[in-house]
Amino acid sequence: MNGCKVVVTQESIEQYSGGFLVCLVSFNGKHPRCDRIIKKRVTELFRLGDFKGKKSESLVLYPEGTVLAKKTAAKRVLLVGVGELKKELDDAEVYELLRNCGGNISAAATKVKTEELLLVLPEYLEKLKTEGVQHLLEGMLLGNYRFEKYKKKDEKKDNYSGIKKISIQPGARLGSIRKAVTLALNSSTAAMTARDMANEPANNWTPNHFAQFASSLAESSELTCTILEKNQINKAGMGGIIGVNKGSSTAPKLIILEHRPKTFSKTILLVGKGVTFDSGGISLKPAAGMQDMKYDMCGGAAVMATMQAVALEKPKVRVVAVVPATDNMSGSSAIKPGDIIKHYNGITSEVINTDAEGRLILADALAYGIKKYKPSCVIDLATLTGAVIIGLGHHRTGMMSNNDTLAKELSNAGDKAGEKLWRLPLDKEYSEQIESDVADIKNVGGRAGGSITAAAYLQKFVGKTPWAHLDIAGTAWEFTTKSYIPKGPSGIGVRTLLTFIRDWRSLKL
Ligand code: BES
Ligand code: MN
Ligand code: ZN
Repeated sequence: MNGCKVVVTQESIEQYSGGFLVCLVSFNGKHPRCDRIIKKRVTELFRLGDFKGKKSESLVLYPEGTVLAKKTAAKRVLLVGVGELKKELDDAEVYELLRNCGGNISAAATKVKTEELLLVLPEYLEKLKTEGVQHLLEGMLLGNYRFEKYKKKDEKKDNYSGIKKISIQPGARLGSIRKAVTLALNSSTAAMTARDMANEPANNWTPNHFAQFASSLAESSELTCTILEKNQINKAGMGGIIGVNKGSSTAPKLIILEHRPKTFSKTILLVGKGVTFDSGGISLKPAAGMQDMKYDMCGGAAVMATMQAVALEKPKVRVVAVVPATDNMSGSSAIKPGDIIKHYNGITSEVINTDAEGRLILADALAYGIKKYKPSCVIDLATLTGAVIIGLGHHRTGMMSNNDTLAKELSNAGDKAGEKLWRLPLDKEYSEQIESDVADIKNVGGRAGGSITAAAYLQKFVGKTPWAHLDIAGTAWEFTTKSYIPKGPSGIGVRTLLTFIRDWRSLKL
């Protein structure tokens, strides 16, 4: 991640002599909507049909020697399309247009390699109040993401490494803009932290790295960090984590971060799958594409990174994040198909396929987290099944839940964050698919309904606690192409969780 400063400035457009003055252009039917200073030019461009303010459009103007030079000393003026802000659009749709526009601004900045810009907030945008600015900025910051740590300097494209400073000309709305800036910085930084973790190769992101991240976050904040080491995991009877870890030379860890306000009435428990590499184990995966299994920790990354923002925002609700972390390796001491393990809550499980390892470690973490923290609700995130990609593609995260209220709230949060969810059923028939002849349950219920039977497995460990499981296998990387979502890991879930946590007061659980 590269650092980018955001400053609110009263610098006038006329006097701004930097490299990139950014103006947002929308339209209403056939008429452009934009700032006064560029109105003439934009109207002309509209007539020519060269720039319409559509959502993927941008155009750079060079004021020097033109009438625009009278209005600004900027070297370049970027016109960026927002798209049509029709009245029918709901808030979530407007936010998405604005984030998308923000991502396009970053892409345009990359084209001309500018490290600074002045963003003019147009007066004309009705919906562009605090929240609009927040999502516009979030899109810019997320779109400015790059991961170049392992590249030689001169191999990076032209040594340009993104925007370093964003100045915002707020007009009259100074106070609320400051708040929008803070919220956007918190959420985008957290999402980019999750991307950074996922981008790290498995030889540089082990359970130990998760633990290091958590303990240094706790050191620099009011969060409390607890790490259960292998012997404690074993003693506690977490047979799933121990079982999955058996083929590995790297010890597993159970990592816990807690945000505990002085007084609180509710607890939100977050659990994330932290498989730092999934080879499949003895049920080995095919070689082609196996490198992508370094991303099998994206659920864990999402919940840890969310805590980074929680630490800054200090909501008056307790938030606890639990990450069971291990890799899933093969070898002579590895767990074998047919082996029976015993989970934390005493349930025994027949391991049909060692590649269905995520549910084995999550089962222990869910049962443990619920027993220890007695949460009002629990949300787990996991790159759990290939089947969810077959069902929903890369555009929506699959959600399964035992509670309609929680499912609805999360779904709303996902809409607002531009990370859409789609709920799948979880009837008791699916649980019947995972009944075993020799143990209480088995870890695979056949090909049919693979994502749901995986959720049915987890459901055995949550009891009556309101719970939602998010299967992010299709969205954690290769997520829908968007201007603010890079190739590679998307940071999915972080902004959804944060939206959900920020709105915790409306939670009726
Ligand atoms: N981590 C994988 C799921 C996965 C697959 C995520 C592809 C992203 C892309 C998980 O551990 C797994 O291997 N699941 C198996 C389960 C099966 C053996 C029942 C799967 O989906 O094939
Ligand atoms: Mn697997
Ligand atoms: Zn896996």
